Amino acid sequence: MLPNAPVVKPASDDWTVPQDWEAYRPEDHAVWDTLFARQCALLPGRVAPQFLAGLDVLRLSRPGIPDFAELSERLMARTGWQVVAVPGLVPEDVFFEHLANRRFVAGRFIRRRDQLDYLQEPDVFHDVFGHVPLLADPVFADYMQAYGEGGLRSIKFGMLDRLARLYWYTVEFGLIATEEGLRIYGAGIVSSFGETRYALESDVPERLPFELMRVMRTPYRIDDFQERYFVIPDFGTLLRATRDTDFAPVYGALRGLGDY
Ligand SMILES: [Fe+2]
Repeated sequence: MLPNAPVVKPASDDWTVPQDWEAYRPEDHAVWDTLFARQCALLPGRVAPQFLAGLDVLRLSRPGIPDFAELSERLMARTGWQVVAVPGLVPEDVFFEHLANRRFVAGRFIRRRDQLDYLQEPDVFHDVFGHVPLLADPVFADYMQAYGEGGLRSIKFGMLDRLARLYWYTVEFGLIATEEGLRIYGAGIVSSFGETRYALESDVPERLPFELMRVMRTPYRIDDFQERYFVIPDFGTLLRATRDTDFAPVYGALRGLGDY
């Protein structure tokens, strides 16, 4: 699918479509291979060790864009997750329903060679390279499922916009403190050549300790590098904050508090 093609709801109720791997052109696979090699050279020493440990699930029998069927088989064996193709952004309830059932939805189109450094809509490189390696980590895999379950509940509370900030500042743009130093793990950073260095090395952004209420009171920007990042001590902290928190009183408190 072309990145700018309008998204039309597919025939399936869950919005999934066949990936149609055979339809990729050699140039599409070459773009993947370029991006993959560039990030693999940049990430060691900058990314969470769990991400590097999960990267091998992407090294499949054929080079280029991963075939989701083969990828899902490998991921399923590790943590029980699958990757399913969708035509583009999907409604929030559909997205959460998939996460709650350990299915990660991924765009199937890939950016053009003149878009290596920036793309507004997530493509298959962002979705698969950025997100899938951590889905091979048992704790992070459980966190993603818990987030999907929490997302479905947040809709009932009318608090989806606040919970979306948790996803943004962790799954997409999270930093983690390790014994070796600060590392990135959010897919938005990990899949970006420029933000990988900016998030760790620039003195422009703030880096704040992760705190659930603070995160949910902090708006974010989607059109530029982040102005602030939140640092977790470990993935278990994220899992517990999401799975073991009763969000009803949290949402109640949030209603009375403004944004940062
Ligand atoms: Fe993403």
